[in-house]
Amino acid sequence: MNRRRFLTAATTAPLAAATLKDGRPDFSAVRNDFPRARLSAYFDNASCHPLSVHSATALHRYVDWETNEVGDPWWPYWAKARDESKNLFAKLINAKPTEIAFCRSTIESESNLLNGMNIEASGGNVVTNDLHYSAALYNYKMRQQAGLDVRIVKNRDWVTDIRDIEKAVDRKTKLVSLALVSNVNGYLQDVKAISAIAHAHGAYVYADVIQCAGAIPIDVKAMGIDFAACSTYKWLMGVKGYGFFYVREDLQGSVVKPTQHSGGVQFNYGPWTSEPHAGGEDVSFKPVTGPGRYEVSYPSYEGAIAAQESLKYIHALGVDNIRAHARSITDRLHKELPAIGYPSITPKGNESPICAFVVKDPAKTMDKLNKAKVHVAMRFGNKMRIAASVFNNQEDVDRLLAALA
Ligand SMILES: Cc1ncc(COP(=O)(O)O)c(C=O)c1O
Repeated sequence: MNRRRFLTAATTAPLAAATLKDGRPDFSAVRNDFPRARLSAYFDNASCHPLSVHSATALHRYVDWETNEVGDPWWPYWAKARDESKNLFAKLINAKPTEIAFCRSTIESESNLLNGMNIEASGGNVVTNDLHYSAALYNYKMRQQAGLDVRIVKNRDWVTDIRDIEKAVDRKTKLVSLALVSNVNGYLQDVKAISAIAHAHGAYVYADVIQCAGAIPIDVKAMGIDFAACSTYKWLMGVKGYGFFYVREDLQGSVVKPTQHSGGVQFNYGPWTSEPHAGGEDVSFKPVTGPGRYEVSYPSYEGAIAAQESLKYIHALGVDNIRAHARSITDRLHKELPAIGYPSITPKGNESPICAFVVKDPAKTMDKLNKAKVHVAMRFGNKMRIAASVFNNQEDVDRLLAALA
């Protein structure tokens, strides 16, 4: 069967029938939805998650239409894909659809948030920590050089200590920014406690959720998260260049001003319009309200189409089930890797699918893993990051442990 026929065949079965058994996910069937799972033991999901056949098929249909007008006229559905993906994401994090804008990148959204809050002008400060993503920290260092008061809290034994946050936050703090799950070691921040401190000082909380949306339950209301962003190429199982920016409804336009492109122009003169309004401005600007004020131009429709499928898939599996499946793998890694000489830098009992271990000889370790067709990430010199997703199984772990032994 060639690849194209495989993709078509794989997706003719309804999603639920393919992946659910007695209403619960059948993770061995889920594995079949990710053909890359057959090629290697792929544990680099925190860098980039493979596509499922469902998202891939939707993308193929899009390409077929764009190149040859083959298939359904896809163009009427692109806006639907954008809207449905936004709604499905809102549901995933317990936000309202009116709180979600599409975006291109997590890091770009955080930067747009900072521009929209204009913290520099207010003389306020931002508190973040060293387990946040490096590109976000570059942004803060750049703004610090331009005069913004930025406080970077250092981790203690790979955990952000709440007492350090308490010390850093004061009445001038406008924003506390964090990666809800750290890309460094998978550490899940105690965002509820951090948010309580921030809110008590009149500050807001931004959470970068790219390393956890789709992998662990997120409830922005219960967790006290005011702003969040992620793109879709990790745990949302989509592609790069498309993602979501959550802005609490009551803060839109007031605390966070749109800074890029928040409306459209109308012409009030002939020949643009046949009946100009007397006394009206020749060229007027009509502002957009709602989350659209943070959106610029067209989204990546490729991104929206892939995300529409993958978010349906994630909802069908259920995030609690996804997390429980990953836990069955990470629990074993936490137990077995330190015992064979790889100390963990992920705290015990941490509830994310990412764990990281220190290795003695990174080059040799990567060589062994590559030869065994096991994919992990080696970051920050000697830190091996292993990230388990829905298609991974215990045989993948066996292969990893055998290669590392
Ligand atoms: C925690 C975290 N934030 C942000 C990013 C980058 O996201 P984006 O490409 O959507 O800007 C990454 C990528 O690895 C990440 O791990």
